[in-house]
Parts: sequence; structure tokens; C-alpha cells
Amino acid sequence: MTSFVTLTPQAKSTNDYSDHVNPQWVRLLNLLQMNASYERCAGSELFTADGRTILDFLSGYCVHNTGHNHPAIIQAIKDELDRRGPAMLQSHVPDLAGVLARRLCSLAGGKIEKVFFACSGSEGVETAIKFARKTTGRTGLLYADGAFHGLTCGALSLMGDAFWRDKFGPMLPDADSVPFGNLEALRARLATGRYAGLFLEPVQAEAGIVVPDSNYLAGAEELCRRHGTLFVLDEVQTGMYRTGTFLAAHQFGVSPDMVVMAKALSGGLVPSSAVLMSEAVYRSVYDSLKRSILHTSTFSENALSMRASLATLDVLESEDLGSRAKELGEYLRERLRQTLSRYGMISGIRGLGLLSGIAFQAPSELRLRVPFEAFRHIHQGMFGQVVVMRMFRDWDILTQMCGNNFMVLKVAPPLVVTREQIDHFVQAIGNVVDMMHTSASFWTEALGLARRAVNV
Ligand SMILES: Cc1ncc(COP(=O)(O)O)c(C=O)c1O
Repeated sequence: MTSFVTLTPQAKSTNDYSDHVNPQWVRLLNLLQMNASYERCAGSELFTADGRTILDFLSGYCVHNTGHNHPAIIQAIKDELDRRGPAMLQSHVPDLAGVLARRLCSLAGGKIEKVFFACSGSEGVETAIKFARKTTGRTGLLYADGAFHGLTCGALSLMGDAFWRDKFGPMLPDADSVPFGNLEALRARLATGRYAGLFLEPVQAEAGIVVPDSNYLAGAEELCRRHGTLFVLDEVQTGMYRTGTFLAAHQFGVSPDMVVMAKALSGGLVPSSAVLMSEAVYRSVYDSLKRSILHTSTFSENALSMRASLATLDVLESEDLGSRAKELGEYLRERLRQTLSRYGMISGIRGLGLLSGIAFQAPSELRLRVPFEAFRHIHQGMFGQVVVMRMFRDWDILTQMCGNNFMVLKVAPPLVVTREQIDHFVQAIGNVVDMMHTSASFWTEALGLARRAVNV
């Protein structure tokens, strides 16, 4: 049989990518010595063309909860293709979307009764912004400092770091931020009665894996109810059992009016997102026959995404990956604390389930402070990138720093990760952290890298 796709050799396809997609990204990967050619991915492992096995401790930013290329999800997608059914007619009732929505509502519980499907987390956030405004008749949007809700203009208006917004404005009007975890600040804002929705990640991911006090989310929900503001949770990273329960909301005893889900929803193989909402929110938007298609999206209920998401839920449940996330997350953080707490540049180990962060701080010792400051002066984010580069190059482990906090290393392996793989990760990060405290070569190499970064 002839293949319709001509696979070009890696070097050629990298040139194509550089020429026509994003050369800066290729340069960055080259600079960090992370431009690997991946041939096959399975579970928590990525196999490269030159024979390396890389352990994935990032999961595509919480996409691969079920592990890479889970056979049951691949089979479900193949079955759906073989069925040759109505993939995206846009003129019928897509039954699979109904089946998936029923299951998501039942798993979410609380007020959740309806679902809008979309294709990305940002699109989900856009939807929630529109629906909050329509439901309340207000325009104001409240979000938390450090938040990351996506990069489309609405979602970007709720971004907790101005870097992402620079020169893309003007953003949506009436979007204000409050410090995450501070109920008093929230009370003062909400009391103005201006806000349609409060948008929060239950555990802030890109802000640096910030886990709030146990009473914060319940307090925020109560304040929202009192002041007529919708309580919207962005569970794009924390959902799908990443933190141990289907939604992180379940561990904080809250019942949101809307929940945005994406990333791991469809098993990391096809795009999908979902906005879970109360009946009241649904009714306010789709309030007549004329408005039955008021908010839609061409690919939203496509059969492949629906089938993949159903198969993903099956895998998460049959392999009990929520319990695994809880148990292994605690094991990981305990091992990290034992190994790293004695080092001056470690300020904390935190997280929930298998979403953890290793927080670094500037060294107090003069011997380390001088190179650290010189280094930070050249480029603020580079310290973390050296850690990431060393983990990759010296230990074959893929990680990344948090997008809005360059001093926190995100640790988020697929939920199928094993204890042995966690032990290997702990040994690796222990070695890298030890080097930064004891070896001059760590800092010499780091400074060289930072200088090259400025010059590329
Ligand atoms: C918490 C959170 N919300 C929303 C988004 C946006 O999702 P997407 O990249 O699918 O648009 C992200 C992306 O990283 C995210 O981390």
C-alpha cells in the first residue's frame, strides 16, 4: 500500500520547520541542547532516534495523564475512524458528545449539568468569559496574580504576568487581578458588585505550583455567591485526576458554576476541551430556539475527540490513576524533601497529587550569590533553563520551569509513572542541585549559556 505521507529525514524536516514555522523555537532548543528527534513515545518514556530513552516529567504540561500513546485510547480512535460515522456534520445530534457530557457531569457533581465542548483550554476560557457576562449582565472579570489561562485575547486579559500581553493590547476591559489566596482582597473587590466571574486555578500551575490554604477556595466561593459573581475554576491542568481526584475542586469542597477542562481530556492524541456549567448558566445563554447555536465551534463535538475522551476516562478509572496520583505524589514530595531540604537554594517542595513544584531561591552564601546574580542579570529565566538542560542532557529527564515563575521547576510526570522512575528523577535532581551548591563548573557553564542566549 502506498503511504500518502512522505516522511522526510529529521534534518530536512527540522529545516522545514525552521524555515516556515518558528526558527526561534528551534534555536532555543538547540541552545539548551534539547533538540532531540523523538521516534516513539510510550507511557512515561520517549525514545529518540539516537538511542536515548528520555523520562517525561512534564507530560506536555499535564496533557499525558494516561501516559503517551495509551493502546486503549489509540484503539478507540482507530475504531471510530473505521466506523466512518458522522465525524463533524454540524447538522445532527452527535450522540457521543451526549454520552461524554453525561459522564463528565456525573464525575464533576455539584451544580454541573451541562457541557460545552471546544478544542483548547483558551477556547474554553473564552467561552466561560462570555457565559459569565451573559449570565450576570456584568462585564467585570476577576483573576489571580500569577494566573495562566491561555493566550487568546480574552484569556490573555486574565493573564497574571504582563510579559505575555506586551504589545498585543488592548485587552478586554474590566479585567482586574487579586492576590491568590487572599480572601480579604477578594472580599473588597467582589463587594463592588462589578464582577461577572472570578476565574481561578484551584492549584496555580504556571505561577509556581501554588497550593492555596484549605479554606481559600471555599471562602472565595462563598464570597462569589454573596456578591452575585460566578465562581469559575480553570482545571485545564489540575483536572482529569492530575491532583488525585477527577477535579481538584473535590479536594477543596467547592461547587463551581463553571469548570474549564482541556489538556488530558482526550488522552493527548487529539485536541479537546470542555466547559462544564450549571443549568442556570446554560439557560442564560441558550435561552431560545433562535439562540440554540449562539455559541458554537466547528470542531467542538467531533467524533474522534469525543471517542478519545471517553476512552481516556475508561483508562483513568480502570487503572485507578487518581489513587496512583495521590499516593505517588506524596511519595515523590517526601523523597524530594529528604534529598533537597538541606540545600540553601531550595525554598520549598509543594504540590497536590502528581502536580509538584521544586522552588528555588537566590543563594545567601556570597560564594554562590555572585555568580547567581551575574547570571540573573544577563537573563532572568536562564538559571532555571540550566537546571532543565542539565536534567535533560546529563540525566535524560524532560522537565520545565513554570511559565510565570522561573524559580520553580514543575514536576508533572504521566500518572502511570513508576516508583523506580520517581527514584531516578529524585537522584537526578539531587545531583544537579548538589552541583549548583558545590561545583564551579555549574556556574561557569551556566554563565556561558546565558551569554550565548543573549547573543543568538
Ligand atoms: C491553567 C491553564 N488554563 C488554560 C490554558 C490554555 O490552554 P490551551 O493552551 O489549550 O489553549 C493553559 C495552558 O497551558 C493552562 O495551563
